[in-house]
Amino acid sequence: MAYTALYRVWRPQTFGDIIGQAHVTTTLQNALREGRLSHAYLFNGPRGTGKTSAAKVMAKAVNCEQPQDGEPCNQCAACQAITDGAVTDVLEIDAASNRGVEEIRDIRDKVKFAPSDVKYKVYIIDEVHMLTTEAFNALLKTLEEPPSHVLFILATTEPHKLPATIISRCQRFDFHRISLADTVSRLEMICQAQDVQVEKEALQLVAKKAEGGMRDALSLLDQAISYGGAAITLQTIIQITGTVSQTYFSTLAKLIAEQDVAQVMEQFDQVMAQGKDAEQFLQDFMFYYRDMLLAKTAPSLQEIVERAMIDEQFAHVATLYSVPVLYEVIETLSTALSQLKWSTYARVLVELTLVKLCQPQGRQANAAQSTQEESELVQTLAKRVRALEEKLTQLLASPGTKPAAAAAANEEGRVREPRRVASAIGSGGSRTPMNRVKEVARSVDEALTQRIKGSWSQILAEVKKVKIQYQAWIVSGQPVAANSDAVVVTFKSPIHCEKTMEPDLKGVVESTIQMVCGKPLALLSVMEDEWQSIEVQAGEAEPSGKQDEPDPLISEALKLVGEHLLEIKD
Ligand SMILES: Nc1ncnc2c1ncn2[C@@H]1O[C@H](COP(=O)(O)OP(=O)(O)OP(=O)(O)O)[C@@H](O)[C@H]1O
Ligand SMILES: [Mg+2]
Ligand SMILES: [Zn+2]
Repeated sequence: MAYTALYRVWRPQTFGDIIGQAHVTTTLQNALREGRLSHAYLFNGPRGTGKTSAAKVMAKAVNCEQPQDGEPCNQCAACQAITDGAVTDVLEIDAASNRGVEEIRDIRDKVKFAPSDVKYKVYIIDEVHMLTTEAFNALLKTLEEPPSHVLFILATTEPHKLPATIISRCQRFDFHRISLADTVSRLEMICQAQDVQVEKEALQLVAKKAEGGMRDALSLLDQAISYGGAAITLQTIIQITGTVSQTYFSTLAKLIAEQDVAQVMEQFDQVMAQGKDAEQFLQDFMFYYRDMLLAKTAPSLQEIVERAMIDEQFAHVATLYSVPVLYEVIETLSTALSQLKWSTYARVLVELTLVKLCQPQGRQANAAQSTQEESELVQTLAKRVRALEEKLTQLLASPGTKPAAAAAANEEGRVREPRRVASAIGSGGSRTPMNRVKEVARSVDEALTQRIKGSWSQILAEVKKVKIQYQAWIVSGQPVAANSDAVVVTFKSPIHCEKTMEPDLKGVVESTIQMVCGKPLALLSVMEDEWQSIEVQAGEAEPSGKQDEPDPLISEALKLVGEHLLEIKD
């Protein structure tokens, strides 16, 4: 039996099902009840917060034969046909995958004809910001004088990329991130219906990690179910998300307050030994202190009460910190986090930061003053980090520098991959070098691609032997293209896409591919929609190699510091 992802199974079918967006759904329901429809709506908001779902409910509500209170009945022929996607008058266009010129032109030509099966023609244009200028112009013409039987619903995560002329012709609704409490109660309901036993704390962590995106929350839950089976604990979620438990942070924060450097280092070593990521560690630790600050300064704040993560230990540790000290701690952590981006030695930098936190004078902004008192070890470490950072800054600033300098920077140790400080969720494949993905799109080796597709299940099975979690992350990926040095795998979930680019997991997948297919190929995880637009662009581009040559500045920089360190932005 084919498995259907939770977020598909639990797609809202009525406005009532759409949680956390009452400001949108109530307004729409009122308009529907009173027959005051606009001819174009713009749904804007973060990923997975219900825009497409609301658009589909809307398409049913306007066409329903017996709507109640502005809700579709989901029983009549029109409702059911629309749910099944069987109504030609309700058209969904994904602007991300086909930039839309043809489709929009087609709309423009056909928009004047009355709908054949239902009352309203509804055009849902998803990711509308991806349309080409030409398509925008065509759309604008249509929006200028739409016939009364037509309804446009444009959805986007990036409204600032839309021409003002389009925005001004739509009624705009802003979808919000879904609150922690709303997410948790929806997840609870779903778990109950799916017969899954789950700890409340586990769902709270899922909701926290999803940062207000319901699709991400459901993908994580899916992940947890495939990993933990019918009983999900907080530990399951901690494992699959690679976070560190609150209990651990409480222990660490207590040791820091007691200025016990040795114990702090030992605790930190333990976490690193479990293969956690230093940067994520730092980020999570900062949020731990932030929660503490909020709990102390605004104890009645909804979010704090909701989170219900204030256990006894947390409350006790909170008494060890004064508010001014918390400010300093958070600031120190946030400074470290921004330095980490450019630091070659994540772990050393985190260690340094922890030592700093243990020394009260280190917390006082004037670091120069405290330098004298720093232990010899700390001084040496600090010097090394600083020297390396300077070298790196120089390298990045001047592509003409002799490669010897780069080699020197390299030979001192492992080079870290850069990563956005933003959380992994919602920034699909942020560490994937997109220039290489584009390269694959330009030079696909069809035979090799077929070979990989054919052996994919074998590859998955081998990965599973190494570590079952690894397989759980990669299993939702689809190999789509390979060339002589890399294979592109697409994902629907940004979490999976991001996760599979983490060095350990990526390494295992790559060596498995080599083992099975006999070729050393780099894994490039991208979101499905990203790949589709890259593929389209590659198809459009002139195949004559010359104009596609990489920017000489970029290739020089690549030679110097290696692609892992370089984040190329258009
Ligand atoms: N507000 C919500 N209430 C209930 N479920 C939701 C909500 N938002 C999203 N979901 C869940 O997430 C899935 C995806 O939601 P949807 O496609 O509507 O998001 P979206 O805002 O269009 O996201 P994107 O910007 O990525 O297209 C739904 O099928 C549903 O399971
Ligand atoms: Mg959508
Ligand atoms: Zn109906």
